[in-house]
Amino acid sequence: MSNSSAGRETWATRIGFILAAVGSAVGLGNIWRFPFQVSQEGGAAFVVMYLAFVVLIGFPAMMVEFVVGRKTGLNAVGGIREFAGGRWKYLGGLFVFIGFVILSYYSVVGGWILRYVLGSATGGYMAQGTGEYFGQISVGMDALLAHAVFMLLVVAIVALGVKRGIEIAVKIMVPAIIAIFAVLAVYAFTLSGAGEAYSYYLSPDFGYLIDNWQSIVPAAAGQGFFTLSLGMGVMITYASYLSEDENLAIDGGTVVIFNTGISILTGLIVFPILFTAGVDPETSGAGAIFVSVAEALGDLQFGRLIGVLFFTTVAIAALSSAISLIEVVVSYVIDEFGIARERATVFIGTAIFLLGVPVTIDNVMVDLYDIFAAQILLVLGGILLVTAVAWIYADKAIDELGKGVTSFSGLDQVWLWIVRVPVLVVLVVSLYLGVDGFVDFLQGDFAEFLNSL
Ligand code: PHE
Repeated sequence: MSNSSAGRETWATRIGFILAAVGSAVGLGNIWRFPFQVSQEGGAAFVVMYLAFVVLIGFPAMMVEFVVGRKTGLNAVGGIREFAGGRWKYLGGLFVFIGFVILSYYSVVGGWILRYVLGSATGGYMAQGTGEYFGQISVGMDALLAHAVFMLLVVAIVALGVKRGIEIAVKIMVPAIIAIFAVLAVYAFTLSGAGEAYSYYLSPDFGYLIDNWQSIVPAAAGQGFFTLSLGMGVMITYASYLSEDENLAIDGGTVVIFNTGISILTGLIVFPILFTAGVDPETSGAGAIFVSVAEALGDLQFGRLIGVLFFTTVAIAALSSAISLIEVVVSYVIDEFGIARERATVFIGTAIFLLGVPVTIDNVMVDLYDIFAAQILLVLGGILLVTAVAWIYADKAIDELGKGVTSFSGLDQVWLWIVRVPVLVVLVVSLYLGVDGFVDFLQGDFAEFLNSL
């Protein structure tokens, strides 16, 4: 039998799986990372490249993960080992490592969000000046505490298990995110800066794209993988709790559509707010998107209320993604070492918390972890996984993809060849450029930080 563990949990409902996958995909990647990537990589030009990546690279790559997860019914490490054989287990090890790295800084940023919920409620950042407020909460003791609280929340939910914890949580969280964001986007539409914001965000300058493709391509690849939770086994893990009568392509398509929709929606909220307040989005770095949004909120009618709504939604979205990041590691430890879920979760949560501690020293540490994880680790994970599944074990993959599908009429072969050639080529190029960009970062901003110590 390919499925090892009798008594392993499954999703209670199909919609539970889709929502969990959407909940994983929709997170800080959409709401924090996407706008700041847009503003660093030339506005709408980046948006175009991002959309291309999500549809042409991300969606087919997501199928690759689904296939491995459902076929084996195992965690990311066991799944890839069973699917592709012994030596590929190191790829599973890479996945677990990536989970550690991403969640460690993700939780620090998640902590910032919790502070902003508080700051909106009390009006704290508006009274104090937003830049100063951010400077205070984003590093040091404040950041460390908030990071701890965020990790505690994650551990509490995941310790409850797949059905009682994750599935129930996402069934509430995901609809809440969509509803609140839709309302906020309508509100943003009424702002005076909306027109200017839309043209910045929605009408691409193709000349810019052509001139700057060497930084836009790896950024879009990293963002595409990050936002869809690809390249580190989340979708393997989630699909492993799935039964065979499900149509993987339809489920994956649903996830991609929801996730992309939320990213686009976020831009429709954030950029009008920024332009209305006269804040230049180009000046927002990794942290500054909060500064600018918060600053803008201070000037708006109902700013505090909008702030509470906005940041609470972001916190919910961040939690439902963080859950999936830790679940990769937790399910591995449960499956492979037979440790009880509660113990495994607490132990792993503590380790990840510790890895995140250096991130609270300075904001440049967020960039360090983030560029390394998204532009290098996730893309590398994607390349290796695609190679194993689409080149070496294609028959198995095609067979699994066909389950739960009534008529495929050759689309499975189209998928296979898309993954084999264009997806792989683009990912390899992106990785190359991504490494280049990372080295630049190390020699630039990061070296500057080290010198200042
Ligand atoms: N997709 C999540 C987000 O956009 C982040 C994430 C990345 C989650 C990788 C799991 C794996 O916030």
